[in-house]
Amino acid sequence: MKNKTPQTLLPKACATSIFEMSGAEFEPDIAAKMWSKIINHKWILSEKVGRDVGLRTACIDFLENMEQAHDEYRTYKQKDILMEMGAQTFSREMWDTIADSQPPKQLVQRRIILPLTEEALAQKHGVVHPRAIIFFGPPGTGKTHFVKAIAGVLSWWYVEILPSMLMVDGVEKVGANLREVMQKAGNLDEVVLFVDEFEEIAGSRDKADRIDKSITNEFLKQIPLLKNQKNKILLVCATNYIRQLDAAMLRPGRFDCIIPVGGLDRQGRTTILEYYIAKLNTGQINMDKLIEMTSGLTPADIQYLFDQVAYFSFEQEIIDKKDYRVTTDTFIQIISKVPPSLSHEVIEEFEKDRITYSRV
Ligand SMILES: Nc1ncnc2c1ncn2[C@@H]1O[C@H](COP(=O)(O)OP(=O)(O)O)[C@@H](O)[C@H]1O
Ligand SMILES: [Mg+2]
Repeated sequence: MKNKTPQTLLPKACATSIFEMSGAEFEPDIAAKMWSKIINHKWILSEKVGRDVGLRTACIDFLENMEQAHDEYRTYKQKDILMEMGAQTFSREMWDTIADSQPPKQLVQRRIILPLTEEALAQKHGVVHPRAIIFFGPPGTGKTHFVKAIAGVLSWWYVEILPSMLMVDGVEKVGANLREVMQKAGNLDEVVLFVDEFEEIAGSRDKADRIDKSITNEFLKQIPLLKNQKNKILLVCATNYIRQLDAAMLRPGRFDCIIPVGGLDRQGRTTILEYYIAKLNTGQINMDKLIEMTSGLTPADIQYLFDQVAYFSFEQEIIDKKDYRVTTDTFIQIISKVPPSLSHEVIEEFEKDRITYSRV
């Protein structure tokens, strides 16, 4: 809908216009702030009724329903931002595909989910939920999966900030784009804001070039701004390389928790295996044997194993033209193609990082 109304006026002119249209008197400075809201309200009202409602109507309606109009505008604005930022939703069930024993599920449940779902109780006891956290750990251990599962269990939006989103206007503009993206995100409510490959935008400034330094600086500035917002925003940053982050990022006061995401124990594997087995055309499967066989595999390895098994069984049926069922033997045949991606060195280094960097 076209908007022919002047967007900006001098404060005094705003006060005069509002007075002429509604008879209400305001100080020029207050009137100036109100003016832009009236313009927005005119647009929303016009969209609602499908015709241009005119400034006088918008002004009177705005003054009569100021609180509601403000909420309506926020909702409209949020919808736009969510679309623009590619917001997604995830089902609650995702949380259930993670075993209680898979770290850091219990920790996340206690420190993040409970204070948000038991808000009144948290307030009673002065518990403040974390607003910015870091997940670190080797690739494929389920960091991204956790973030999506958190959004799912909270029924919040999931918005991912990809380094590529920040690079669209060339490297020189990354800092400015980061600021803009974070400011936009600050208008949202009930959102998990996810920054993957965090080391790319928050790397150590010691050896960085001018541009990388400015990006890290910008991010350091943005965290407290985001944390001060009243709305429900959880910033989660994930990295495979915690040692590459700038030391200032890791100091208390920036991130509330720095959480390791490590390997799977028996129970963790069992839950994931059951989840993937349910998708196959199965015959007899010896679970104990499968759990043994998959020792040392990450969730990503297990997913890859099941992709291979699924494709194998599909092909067998095409070749033999009869029902093919996946059994323990199928896994025995395929498992040699899936070596554990975490070497002993990687696990050892991660254990050191866990001791040095964890803050929960
Ligand atoms: N608990 C889980 N249940 C089922 N699949 C999982 C689970 N955790 C991770 N995955 C799958 O394993 C793969 C790797 O996990 P991801 O979260 O991408 O790891 P990371 O971000 O640490 O590299 C993803 O495809 C994800 O869907
Ligand atoms: Mg990931």
